[in-house]
Amino acid sequence: MAKGIFVTGTDTGVGKTVVTGGLAGVLRKNGFKAAAFKPVQSGGIEREGELLSEDAQFYRVATGLPYSIRELNPCCFKPPLSPNVAARVSGQVIDPLALAEAYYRLAAENDFVLVEGAGGLCVPLVDYHFTMADLARLLNTPLLVVARPGLGTINHTVLTVKYAQQSGIKVKGIIINGYREDQATMAERTNPEVIEGMTGIPILGIVPYLPEVSVESGRTGNLVEVIDEKVDWRVLI
Ligand SMILES: Nc1ncnc2c1ncn2[C@@H]1O[C@H](COP(=O)(O)OP(=O)(O)OP(=O)(O)O)[C@@H](O)[C@H]1O
Ligand SMILES: [Mg+2]
Repeated sequence: MAKGIFVTGTDTGVGKTVVTGGLAGVLRKNGFKAAAFKPVQSGGIEREGELLSEDAQFYRVATGLPYSIRELNPCCFKPPLSPNVAARVSGQVIDPLALAEAYYRLAAENDFVLVEGAGGLCVPLVDYHFTMADLARLLNTPLLVVARPGLGTINHTVLTVKYAQQSGIKVKGIIINGYREDQATMAERTNPEVIEGMTGIPILGIVPYLPEVSVESGRTGNLVEVIDEKVDWRVLI
């Protein structure tokens, strides 16, 4: 049975997919069987009459995963809304146990499964009660937090870590994503050390802004090599 890692973000759009795809690619490059899994996607895109998860498609490009998009993303909605509302307006209800089953199918065949949440930890999946944090607990996976480099990230990252810990989820590490060395402000240079000091959780790496990477266009550039070099991924395994 695979080890799971739940990749959450301090917000939507912080780079969870880039980090998840990159890490899965690094693990596979280093000889591990690793899969990436997106239980619920909202804002799915329509291609040839089918609704697809861009995130799952990106994992396949980054890693050459031998799974269909459906196996990597069992639940996809078109409206770019929180999953509970996206499901409601699509006339559906998300079943956390079905998500867990899809996860365990991948877990049975791999050494590692990286699970990417949608948005952050408090994002609701069912009505007003079952959240991404509850899903991480259901799957019994420790957490990796992806955060922005800039001003405001201390508050968002510390809140995410504390909420996870209060919810009984172990936090393994934090990755800062999208750092631009040439434009880094004083905040960006000092944030990692402050976040580590306030949470006691290690910053496993700072991933630079990579202009050739695009989730939307399915372009990975040298993402896997950069994550291999810049992220202390061995802490996760
Ligand atoms: N290190 C990076 N360098 C360049 N572009 C990046 C980097 N990280 C993320 N991006 C871009 O920023 C956007 C958001 O990244 P990503 O899709 O990984 O975020 P996310 O947290 O997974 O979002 P969501 O909550 O929608 O799943 C994408 O267009 C992606 O290509
Ligand atoms: Mg994503």
